[in-house]
Amino acid sequence: METLATPLLEEATGGRDVFLDLDLRRGQLRRNLRGAIREAIQDGRLATGTRLPSSRRLATDLRVSRGVVADTYDQLTAEGYLETQPRQAPLVAGVGAAPPLPEEPARPTWAIDFIATTPDVELFPRRAWIRATERALLKAPNDALDYGDHRGRIELRRALSGYLGRVRGVRIDPERMAITQGFTQGLDLVSRVLLARGAATIAFESPSQATGWGTPGAVGLRVEGVPVDADGVRTDLLDTVTAPAIVVTPAHQFPTGAVMAPERRAELVAWANRANRLIIEDDYDAEYRYDRNGIGAIQGLDPCRVIHIGTASKTLAPGIRLGWMSLPDEMVDEIRAAKGAQDSGSPALEQLALAELISSGDYDRHVARARHVYRQRRDALIAALAEHLPGLEPHGAAAGLHVLLRLPENVDDVAIQAAAAERGIGVNPLSPMCRSGPVERGLVVGYSRLTVERIDEAVAALAECLADVGAASAPPQRRSPRRASAASPSLVQASSS
Ligand SMILES: Cc1ncc(COP(=O)(O)O)c(C=O)c1O
Repeated sequence: METLATPLLEEATGGRDVFLDLDLRRGQLRRNLRGAIREAIQDGRLATGTRLPSSRRLATDLRVSRGVVADTYDQLTAEGYLETQPRQAPLVAGVGAAPPLPEEPARPTWAIDFIATTPDVELFPRRAWIRATERALLKAPNDALDYGDHRGRIELRRALSGYLGRVRGVRIDPERMAITQGFTQGLDLVSRVLLARGAATIAFESPSQATGWGTPGAVGLRVEGVPVDADGVRTDLLDTVTAPAIVVTPAHQFPTGAVMAPERRAELVAWANRANRLIIEDDYDAEYRYDRNGIGAIQGLDPCRVIHIGTASKTLAPGIRLGWMSLPDEMVDEIRAAKGAQDSGSPALEQLALAELISSGDYDRHVARARHVYRQRRDALIAALAEHLPGLEPHGAAAGLHVLLRLPENVDDVAIQAAAAERGIGVNPLSPMCRSGPVERGLVVGYSRLTVERIDEAVAALAECLADVGAASAPPQRRSPRRASAASPSLVQASSS
């Protein structure tokens, strides 16, 4: 490979060098010369109106045959990059040069990762997925490779309807299910349907995952917040809701960890029927229960009022981008049409692989194994919190992949996030997740990516950040970890008094 700054181009461009990356090997030259000139035009090195050297001149300069250059010019003229007049050297045509893209901010990789929304992707069952993919591909009928039903492959809808009935108490016929790209796309599709039906708003629990508000927001719906307490969403406030639908996380409220109390579940469903509203049940981490039996999905109470949405993002990996919706009858056609309009259906082979994973029992085995790992991490986290942050009670530890540490009102949880980020610690504050009612302070502490061996050190480091920001003096250390432990009972007591 040889990089040339051709004198002829230099002359043509008013004395400025224009570099062309040219591979002068035989057989490569034509294609390479064309690509190099095209690239120089696209990125603006050869400006619009620049006259290129004649084909004879450039050929002499490059020591190639004139035919090579003439063909190149012809081809670039046909593509619209050059303008040619008889007996004149070509001019660079007006091609819109794409402005250079701003550099993508890299996704932070935390030395200590307490981000609550992600599972441990290292646990992904690669071998089982390979087996499932192979079986899926061998069995797949030809029509699986064609455009298909926008609700998704029937094999997966069948497997999921059985699984969801068995594990989540969801009552659903595969005909009323739709496969999506995760919860996010399910929410997007429902938002579009609601908008088309005339909705202006959608309700969420407050606090809730703030990134989730962006999905209906992008479609044009405003977001209303309904406060949550220790028993889940405040059903006594539902009559003030104007939105036709509310998104709830009954099994393990995100981020407070509250489990919706039985009477609240009943009141929520009663309100939906009385006021003709829909409930969107985000069942994002229901498989992870540690200290008690699973709580069934609300959908089981009223399949006509509840849209149940599940996802593989917590049980398998977010990158899989598979989710599923169990729909009330009256929504099926609209969701199917919205999904078709958006992407003509989710990738078939991944759907078939997941169907195989479920029907072979490998999905259940993987979830059981992951639950065991996460339970150990959860136990280690609770112990480390008791040691390093004894004044803070972890909420919502019975399920899921995170706990909530509430902080006094006058503690700046966003400042703690910033202090933590400086030390390479990723953790999310509670206050930006509040949509209505009082702004609560706290930290949402995910433990899925922290191994048992690392959790003590990680919590000690987090405690240091709290001490930094809360201006609490560190209590005497009871042991000598690698980084100083700075628990903050004084912070909590001083601030809450
Ligand atoms: C509350 C909540 N719902 C749903 C999801 C899953 O979203 P998706 O299935 O689009 O990855 C997450 C993941 O972070 C979440 O935290």
